[in-house]
Amino acid sequence: MGGDIPPPVDELAAVSLTNDEASSSTVQKARFSDRVRIQSILGRPDGGAGLAGQKVRISGWVKTGREQGKGAFAFLEVNDGSCPANLQVMVDASVSDLSKLIATGTCVTVDGYLKLPPEGKGTKQKIELSVVEVIDLGTVDPGTYPIPKTKLTLERLREFLHLRARTNSISAIARIRHALAIATHTFFDEEGFLYVQTPIITTSDCEGAGEMFQVTTLISTTEKLERELIENPPPTEADVEAARVVVKERGEAVAELKAAKASKEAILASVAELNDAKANFAATEARSRLKPGLPKVDGKIDYSQDFFGRQAFLTVSGQLQVETYACGLSDVYTFGPTFRAENSHTSRHLAEFWMVEPELAFADLEDDMNCAEAYVKYMCKWLLEKRYDDMELMAKNFDKGCIDRLKLVASTPFGRLTYTEAIKILEEAVAKGKNFDNAVEWGIDLASEHERYLTEVVFQKPLIVYNYPKGIKAFYMRLNDDGKTVAAMDVLVPKVGELIGGSQREERIDVIMERLEEIGLPVEPYEWYLDLRRYGTAKHSGFGLGFERMVLFATGMDNIRDVIPFPRYPGRADL
Ligand code: 4AD
Ligand code: MG
Repeated sequence: MGGDIPPPVDELAAVSLTNDEASSSTVQKARFSDRVRIQSILGRPDGGAGLAGQKVRISGWVKTGREQGKGAFAFLEVNDGSCPANLQVMVDASVSDLSKLIATGTCVTVDGYLKLPPEGKGTKQKIELSVVEVIDLGTVDPGTYPIPKTKLTLERLREFLHLRARTNSISAIARIRHALAIATHTFFDEEGFLYVQTPIITTSDCEGAGEMFQVTTLISTTEKLERELIENPPPTEADVEAARVVVKERGEAVAELKAAKASKEAILASVAELNDAKANFAATEARSRLKPGLPKVDGKIDYSQDFFGRQAFLTVSGQLQVETYACGLSDVYTFGPTFRAENSHTSRHLAEFWMVEPELAFADLEDDMNCAEAYVKYMCKWLLEKRYDDMELMAKNFDKGCIDRLKLVASTPFGRLTYTEAIKILEEAVAKGKNFDNAVEWGIDLASEHERYLTEVVFQKPLIVYNYPKGIKAFYMRLNDDGKTVAAMDVLVPKVGELIGGSQREERIDVIMERLEEIGLPVEPYEWYLDLRRYGTAKHSGFGLGFERMVLFATGMDNIRDVIPFPRYPGRADL
């Protein structure tokens, strides 16, 4: 990565091609197929002009197609997802049946020669492809294709999650998302953090907020059993009794043979029959006890019969588990899906979202804030360097200011203020006539409107609010010396509000035990977590960045459902 200031725009226009690729006059083939990526052509600083005369094979989907010259030839705008730009493709009627090529959504693989477009047509294209052969074709019936040429709203596109990756906006977001993920791994790798995979299925509630999805096979096994019991009714009491009688009779038979000093073979055969009868009795009795409904003890569901022998959930955060690695490997991070069963219908919440959670050993809250700020800045710079083309598309279609915002964030120090100072600012705003839906007073959990007012109106840049009242924060956050606040911090950014939540962790065993008790959480499920404090405890801190919130912030999109490939929210889990 370069210095603090992003390079000028014209240098950024060349997207992630290596210098060799960009200056070469031979085009690079994709390594694992026989086609050339459109980005390898159009992503060069010369827009592909230097490749004129070369024969290439390209593949992609037709964005728009039109016949011209009274059907003598057709122009296709083809996109393969490697960059936002389309390659203009010219097909002569002598080469192929043009009517099959021009429908939006058609998939084509074609061979042709790269040519400079005729001059003076005012076209932006630096290069086009003149087709000599159509190699492969996936046709589309325009009458039924759900993603037509005319733009659909983002909301309507959510009805077609399986096809929306073909649109300019969703594919640009996908590339930006990828870039942010790579930036994340690169940043932490460069800083010496190890990537740790924390579990998705967990038995601890990290945030203690009771917003967990349960993982269970009890329901499906109960349903299966209920169907089976209907098809094959359980033994009655009389059946059990009959089986018991057989055991008794066989037992007597063995005794008689022994008394009569019968042959060894005869006794062994009789004992075998007795054992069969015992097994049959046990099975009959066990089956007679099967009942429809969930298994219960003392009126409560018996989770000892569940898949894991106890209640299990989808994780809300990998923090607690990643702390175990931080307290052994020092700096670590986890990056994975997290799940929250909160019934939120906002444009900032998902039921399944991805979180990046670094955990820094031997670091306090200030170190944590410095890391969070450096990481967010790094991602902004990365996007400006690697995906300027897609950022331009976002600026054009969705949010004029998104590129300037990335530049500002990459180069300006974040504001920092305590929760108490933040409340003071909000109270002053209220005194001057500002209206909030949620009342402001020390002790409240800042609402999204408060957070956005602070970052968008007052500071007009990202800011970090720290030292929150302990009453609104999780049990694991370190208690400050004032006894009222904890060493927590939230990073708030314009357009989104809360992007990051983090804290210094309570490393003192007695204090954390007191906090658990104060909050009313049971100690038993957290014993392993407490062991980290009992044995070789270490000062440590960490945070969680909501990955989709970062994509929202970077792209300027309005709804979080459009920046994750497969959004899950109340009432919706398509595909
Ligand atoms: O503030 P949160 O709840 O913090 C934690 O989970 C800590 N255990 C993290 C840590 O210290 N390792 O969540 C972290 C971030 C939020 O700031 C927000 O960006 C995002 O996760 N987030 C959500 N994003 C989308 N949909 C939701 N329902 C979200 N809930 C939280
Ligand atoms: Mg939070």
